[in-house]
Amino acid sequence: MKSSKAPRLPASSLEEFEQRVVTPRAGRTLIVGSQVYGDKEDRRARYPDVVGIDMLAGPGVDRVLDLEESLPDDLGLFDHVECMSVLEHSRRPWLLAANIERLMAPGATLFVSVPFVWRIHGYPNDYWRLTPEGVRALFPEIEWTAVMLASHGLTEGPKFGSTKVGAHPYFARTETVAFGTRKPYTPTRAARPRRTSRQVDDEHRAAFGGGDAGGADA
Ligand SMILES: C[S@@+](CC[C@H](N)C(=O)[O-])C[C@H]1O[C@@H](n2cnc3c(N)ncnc32)[C@H](O)[C@@H]1O
Repeated sequence: MKSSKAPRLPASSLEEFEQRVVTPRAGRTLIVGSQVYGDKEDRRARYPDVVGIDMLAGPGVDRVLDLEESLPDDLGLFDHVECMSVLEHSRRPWLLAANIERLMAPGATLFVSVPFVWRIHGYPNDYWRLTPEGVRALFPEIEWTAVMLASHGLTEGPKFGSTKVGAHPYFARTETVAFGTRKPYTPTRAARPRRTSRQVDDEHRAAFGGGDAGGADA
C-alpha cells in the first residue's frame, strides 16, 4: 500500500541541489546579503545561531556592512556561510569572496548560488554572471563537494537547456550552485584570516592545551 505521505518534491533545481548536497556544518552561521525582499523566506529562521549581514539596512539584516571592505574585528569566525544571489551584485566579488574565506573557520561549509544566465536585475546593481569555473576561481580556499549548473535539472555542465531561435541559441535561466568546505589554514601570514587576539588565543589553547597561548600575532 502506498504511504499517504508523498515525499516533498523540490520546487526547483536549486532546491534539489540544497536537499541533495548542502549539509551545513552546525555552529555559527553567516548569511551574506541577508536582506529579505518581498515575500521571500528569511533564511535566518533555519539556523539557531545566525548573523545576517547586508550592505543595505532592511528586513533580515542584523548588521549593515559592505563585505568588500576591511572586516571589523568583532565578527569572529563562522561554521557555515550562505551566499545566495549576492556575488553578481558585488562590484568587486573577488574581495567579497576573500572576506568570506577569512570569516570561515577551518572545516566551515559554504553554500553559494549565483546566476549564470539571467536578466539584469537591481538589488541595488547587477554586475556579473559566473560559470562554475568562475566560482572555483573566486574561492581558492574551498574544497568543493559539488559545483553544478541548476536549470531544468542539475548538471555538471557545460551542456544545459537551450533552444534555437533562428540561428541563435537561447539559454534557460541557470544558476551556478556550489557547496564546499574551508581548507585548513595555510601557515603563511598573508593567507590567514584576520582574527582577534582572543580568537588566536582560543585556537592555540584548543590545539596545544591550556596555559599561556603566547605569540598572538592578530
Ligand atoms: C539579490 S539580493 C539577494 C538577497 C537574498 N540573499 C536572496 O537570495 O533573496 C543581493 C543582496 O546582496 C547585498 N550585497 C551586495 N553586495 C554586497 C556587499 N559587498 N556586502 C554586503 N552585502 C552585499 C545587496 O545589498 C542585496 O541585499
